[in-house]
Amino acid sequence: DAAETLKPRPPVVTIMGHVDHGKTSLLDAIRGGNVQSGEAGGITQHIGAYQVALKDKSKITFLDTPGHEAFTDMRMRGANVTDIVVLVVAADDGLKPQTIEAINHTKAAGVPMIVAINKIDKPEAKPQKVREELLQHEIVVEQMGGDVQDVEVSALKKTNLDSLLEAIALQAEILELKANPDRPAEGAVVEAKLDKGRGPLATVLVQRGTLRVGDVIVVGAASGKVRAMIDDHGRQVKEAGPSVPVEVLGLGAVPSAGDQLTVVENEARAREVATYRQGV
Ligand code: GTP
Ligand code: NA
Ligand code: MG
Repeated sequence: DAAETLKPRPPVVTIMGHVDHGKTSLLDAIRGGNVQSGEAGGITQHIGAYQVALKDKSKITFLDTPGHEAFTDMRMRGANVTDIVVLVVAADDGLKPQTIEAINHTKAAGVPMIVAINKIDKPEAKPQKVREELLQHEIVVEQMGGDVQDVEVSALKKTNLDSLLEAIALQAEILELKANPDRPAEGAVVEAKLDKGRGPLATVLVQRGTLRVGDVIVVGAASGKVRAMIDDHGRQVKEAGPSVPVEVLGLGAVPSAGDQLTVVENEARAREVATYRQGV
């Protein structure tokens, strides 16, 4: 709808890279150093997606996907949730099969990339070798005269994390990301599971509109009413706007990563849509 009022929204950043190159460590380091709650250090991470606030109060949403499978699954389902990919390459290990797969997925998705050359604290780190290897895959980083931002970091020593966040913020600025918060929510499932006590749980990234407790939703072939929402700090929240990740309680079944969330008028309509999607 061209008449919609679009407002700036935070970038959604997916961290990709080869196994053990430090994706989770990097996210933990970023989160530990930037959480606003004052709980830094000892926070239980409740969902695999979260926001960090920068010094200027702007926010970045990070998706901590296990490997790159979730990203690929979601893309195949048409849920292009990612605005920016941060490719993590361990400086002591260089480009590996999953690094190259991540490069190919990112190119195929047409998503801008930032390279984080990690483990720079290691004596055997060879960041320049990483840049040369990237060149062989047509990723020309700034240090090599190209326009892909590259930042040397150490998740372990928390080195240059601010530079990485600045690089993300700069890329986000170029993208001019916007969404209309004042409409029924649409979003995508990042991950989902069955919790013994609480039933089906879905981590949803809201893409447009605002999701509220009490909303009737269809998520893939599952439906229900939002009974509660939990943010990335484990706090109950009443609403979630564009680019905000939340854990949603109240679905009748467990959806899959990449499933689309839609808000509908009532529960009868929700069952109708869900049944249709089940192909019954
Ligand atoms: P998967 O999710 O299994 O693919 O791994 P990952 O990419 O999330 O890597 P993870 O954060 O689990 O780190 C793998 C190992 O590398 C751990 O032993 C970390 O402690 C170590 N590591 C991560 N970042 C650094 C770093 O900057 N320097 C050093 N020296 N070690 C690091
Ligand atoms: Na690991
Ligand atoms: Mg990990």
